[in-house]
Amino acid sequence: MNQFHIEGPNRVTGTIEAGGAKNATLPAMAASLLTDEPLELRRVPRVRDIRTMARLLTHLGVDNEADDEVVRLCPTGAEDLDDAPYELVKEMRASVLVLGPLLARRGRARVSLPGGCAIGVRPIDQHLAGLEALGAEVALEHGYVTAQARQLTGARYRFGMPTVGGTENLIMAATLARGTTRLENCAREPEIVDLAELLNAMGARIKGAGQETVEIEGVETLSGTAHTIIPDRIEAGTYLVAAAMTSGDVTVAGSRAADLAPLLEKLAEAGCRFEQLEDGIHLSRDGELRARDIVTAPHPGFPTDLQAQYMALMTQAEGVSTICETVFENRFQHVPELGRMGAKIEIDGSYARVYGPSPLSGAKVMATDLRASACLVLAGLAADGQTVVDRIYHLDRGYERMEQKLTTLGARVERV
Ligand code: UD1
Repeated sequence: MNQFHIEGPNRVTGTIEAGGAKNATLPAMAASLLTDEPLELRRVPRVRDIRTMARLLTHLGVDNEADDEVVRLCPTGAEDLDDAPYELVKEMRASVLVLGPLLARRGRARVSLPGGCAIGVRPIDQHLAGLEALGAEVALEHGYVTAQARQLTGARYRFGMPTVGGTENLIMAATLARGTTRLENCAREPEIVDLAELLNAMGARIKGAGQETVEIEGVETLSGTAHTIIPDRIEAGTYLVAAAMTSGDVTVAGSRAADLAPLLEKLAEAGCRFEQLEDGIHLSRDGELRARDIVTAPHPGFPTDLQAQYMALMTQAEGVSTICETVFENRFQHVPELGRMGAKIEIDGSYARVYGPSPLSGAKVMATDLRASACLVLAGLAADGQTVVDRIYHLDRGYERMEQKLTTLGARVERV
């Protein structure tokens, strides 16, 4: 099993290129199920979740080939296939994104229920209720959701909470429904805006993506197109936190400050300087780091996917910071591992209080999920001595060649 060996402390400096957003690529790939024409996606990150989605699409009759950062998806017309099996869904919850497109185009879908995962229960009730509102018959049996509808019909549906995957599934389903669909209380993440831009380029009629209310006027068919995925804000944010944490100086070329506003504002309050360059974000710190509280929330709030990395940073800040996690119920699994490295953190329900600054010392630690792994790598950069991060297959789900990017920035990180 792969590990990272990190020799600390490191100061990270230099420039790296932002990769494409994993969380925008996954729904974009699922959108290939909505057309019988080829779709070309550019700036696709080479990470494990993308390969998992590619396998699922092959299973569902969409040929796909990757050439560097370009993925070409060609539907083969094998439309009798409609199931997303447990083996693939359990590996990656985002597999559930094929539900809406399959139902809209093939009239039926059978998708394994994802079950719980390391960071929380994560039900898909909102996806299902939304599809029912569009006229689908939905049943749960043998651990699978089966949904069918000869023709989905536009309707009004209000989400019980903003859900990223739910909003994406419903937008995709509604593109081919008869009539107009009005979705309220939608998630507003930049990845949803990117998906809507792709779908509109395919001929869909979607208005309001990125706002609370999205309207979709159904069309008969969608065509193929070529689309460039937005830069990954979570990956960029992780490297910017690495700079903040190590008194470093980093530019993430291609990243967009607007997508990262909640993080950048906090980093500025905590004592960092950042600027949006023509094509990228530059961040540096030379003074003291101050403790600042955060509360995670759906976009445009502080992203839950950067909470663990921010917590690693706060272990080095002067004072006490409170970190409140409101999106997932079990997203503090990095805390005991940080504790093994010398951090002082108390957990009280959805609150964590970080007492800083604590000198960190290298230790053997274990990654538990994707973003928790990134947090431990960051802690390893700031720690004295060797840190061994075990189970980095979690990291490989969403970070492309992280050890190479960190090495480019001057860190001593080795994959063993
Ligand atoms: C997406 C991201 C993930 C990120 C999360 C929140 C992808 C592939 N993944 O996950 O990296 O951490 O957004 O920003 O884009 N919920 C329900 N019922 C539902 C749907 C969601 O109760 O039907 C709850 C979830 O349990 C969670 C919250 O809503 O507590 C937000 O989940 P959601 O936005 O759906 O996350 P994902 O789309 O799974």
